[in-house]
Amino acid sequence: MDPLSRLALIHDTDKWGSHFYTAAYHRHLARFRSRTVSLLELGVGGYNNPDEGGGSLRLWKDYLTRGTIVGIDLFGKADLSEERITVVQGSQSDPGFLASVSQRHGPFDIVIDDGSHVQADVLTSFETLFPLLEHGGIYAIEDTQTSYWPDFGGSTDPAAAHTVMTRMKSLTDLLNYAEIQVVQPEYRPDPVAHSIKTVTFYHNLVFIEKGDNTSASNFADGPGSRGLLRSLRVVQRAIAAGGAGAELYGRQARLLAKLGRMDEALQQQAQAAALEPSVPRRHGRLAELLADAGRWAEAAASFRTAIDLSPNNPVYAAELARVLQRMTDEPAGAYDPECPPECPPECPPG
Ligand SMILES: C[S@@+](CC[C@H](N)C(=O)[O-])C[C@H]1O[C@@H](n2cnc3c(N)ncnc32)[C@H](O)[C@@H]1O
Repeated sequence: MDPLSRLALIHDTDKWGSHFYTAAYHRHLARFRSRTVSLLELGVGGYNNPDEGGGSLRLWKDYLTRGTIVGIDLFGKADLSEERITVVQGSQSDPGFLASVSQRHGPFDIVIDDGSHVQADVLTSFETLFPLLEHGGIYAIEDTQTSYWPDFGGSTDPAAAHTVMTRMKSLTDLLNYAEIQVVQPEYRPDPVAHSIKTVTFYHNLVFIEKGDNTSASNFADGPGSRGLLRSLRVVQRAIAAGGAGAELYGRQARLLAKLGRMDEALQQQAQAAALEPSVPRRHGRLAELLADAGRWAEAAASFRTAIDLSPNNPVYAAELARVLQRMTDEPAGAYDPECPPECPPECPPG
């Protein structure tokens, strides 16, 4: 049994026994255990009995050994406050109240919604508190089954627009907003999209991890691509460390080509071919780059080398045919990279 489930046995909370949430919590919160963190739980427990509730707050206090724990509840339960635990009265449906709790006691690393489980309340809390959550923090929502229950504002239609589950499912698309922008550049996602790192669904329980989600699509190549530049730096460091093989030079060449740095790409691919002169794909890839640069004669020569080394590979033959066609269309020496054939008649300017 994990340590959080073990602790839950001695604290009066339904997080283990009625629900079985603690193993999932341990999976997501273990990294915070000995850190100085602050946790906010919406819903202290015990409803209108001022002496009841607080079991989960004490559980978190035991589990997060250096944690500061804050609980809010619709009903007054201030007497449940103790060292490292503060209980505040107010409703999770009140954005002003939530913001003031965050300002006074936060910012929080962990927020747990175990309050009313009414759709509108849970959504208001999420939209208010997630932006205020610490970077790297976790937002958990319990009892998401109420999304399907009309008594809690839910709907028997799993795709109903106003439920917590529908909103949580929408976060999975926001996670991939950069990919939508590849085909729809004008698409502007909900601002939370930039800080959704992971969304994890369990039976009746969802975790949203806050973190950087600003990486460009892997299709968003070009001189400014942060992902490509980062990969290039790593590959270059590996080459500088010595003993790099042809594969690494080839990898560097592909990254440089995607970044539009063709001359360097060609140099690196030529180096890869020189390191492994008997490997057909080294020459095939060099030929492809040469063709991309419009250096048709050299591209044809490299494809021929690849064909000599791998006579049964139909791809090189097809590529060679394509290059020869371009050479016929554009007689030797006629190719001008400053003014390729697709340019308008007035090119080059001046
Ligand atoms: C299920 S209990 C919480 C149990 C506790 N978190 C635990 O794990 O032991 C739900 C609590 O949410 C409180 N609650 C209900 N509506 C609320 C609201 N709008 N704002 C804040 N708390 C609310 C209730 O009074 C009740 O004490």
